[in-house]
Amino acid sequence: MLVSIAVVVGAVTTAIAYFVPWLPEQASEQREGIDAVFWITTAICVSIFALVSAVILYSVFKFRAKPDDDTDGPPIHGHTGLEIAWTAIPAILVIIIGVASAIVLARNDRGGPDALRIQVTAQQFAWNFRYPNNVTSGTLRLPVHRDVVLQLRALDVLHSFFVPQFGQKQDAVPGELTKLAITPTKVGKYPIECTELCGLGHAVMRSQAVVMPAAEYDAWIRQEGKRIKGPPGQAGAAVFENNGCGGCHVFSPANSQGQVGPSLNELEQQARRAGKPLEDFVRESIVEPEAYLEPDYPNVMPKTFAQLPAEQLDALVQYLVGDEESGG
Ligand code: CUA
Repeated sequence: MLVSIAVVVGAVTTAIAYFVPWLPEQASEQREGIDAVFWITTAICVSIFALVSAVILYSVFKFRAKPDDDTDGPPIHGHTGLEIAWTAIPAILVIIIGVASAIVLARNDRGGPDALRIQVTAQQFAWNFRYPNNVTSGTLRLPVHRDVVLQLRALDVLHSFFVPQFGQKQDAVPGELTKLAITPTKVGKYPIECTELCGLGHAVMRSQAVVMPAAEYDAWIRQEGKRIKGPPGQAGAAVFENNGCGGCHVFSPANSQGQVGPSLNELEQQARRAGKPLEDFVRESIVEPEAYLEPDYPNVMPKTFAQLPAEQLDALVQYLVGDEESGG
């Protein structure tokens, strides 16, 4: 009787819990597996909780001592049947959870043979993504319904890559290559969060994953691939835009308005203050930002840009220097 009440209560509360949107939107195949395990575990926990509560409540009312009853309860010497039941049932439930988790983990680790491989570089406090054709970007763009494998590297300390809507989390470890498989199922924009305390800027170590229709992604990656191989002005502009330089710097040729770092319209004056030739100064400021700091600006520029492929770094330097000279 108690058991059947508990099962019914467990089923009803699990159903109620299931239809409340506690979890972030589901946007990857991997998340579907993770959610399945989550709900199996939740159903088991809720049912056990309902059963235990039912037994306790029943006992509290049924066996309550009378107000003036100070006698001891009857002595009890164990109950073999009950003991077997409360050992065997939890063991079975834990095995069910374990097997379900193992299946989902094994499936979620498989990237698929034709997976799109994207290199991810994590550093205090930014993410950088590099695609197979060497396009680099500060925002992660993915084609929907295609297997993707992220290959993560960290340049300084531990970081962790997490998009709640994709479900999986992976650490980026210095000196080690780690992998994360994603198969996006929904077009949209999702937050990328660093989930390993990595320093003062940890909370702002965020980016965005943009899941695009496959054709749109193909067009984007082809176009950006062409741009970075174009003349330095064009290639530099592409590198500047894709890597999010404008988010922190004012630069008229790119129409950018970022106020975090020094204005890139005044590179010549800054180079003079640093006592270095313009081009050397610009290159150094990208790969080793702390070498010279403009007064009043904190050193928050990530060093991830030192990882840019050489041609792209050259193009970016040319873009910044060239426009500086012609723009006066
Ligand atoms: Cu990187 Cu926290």
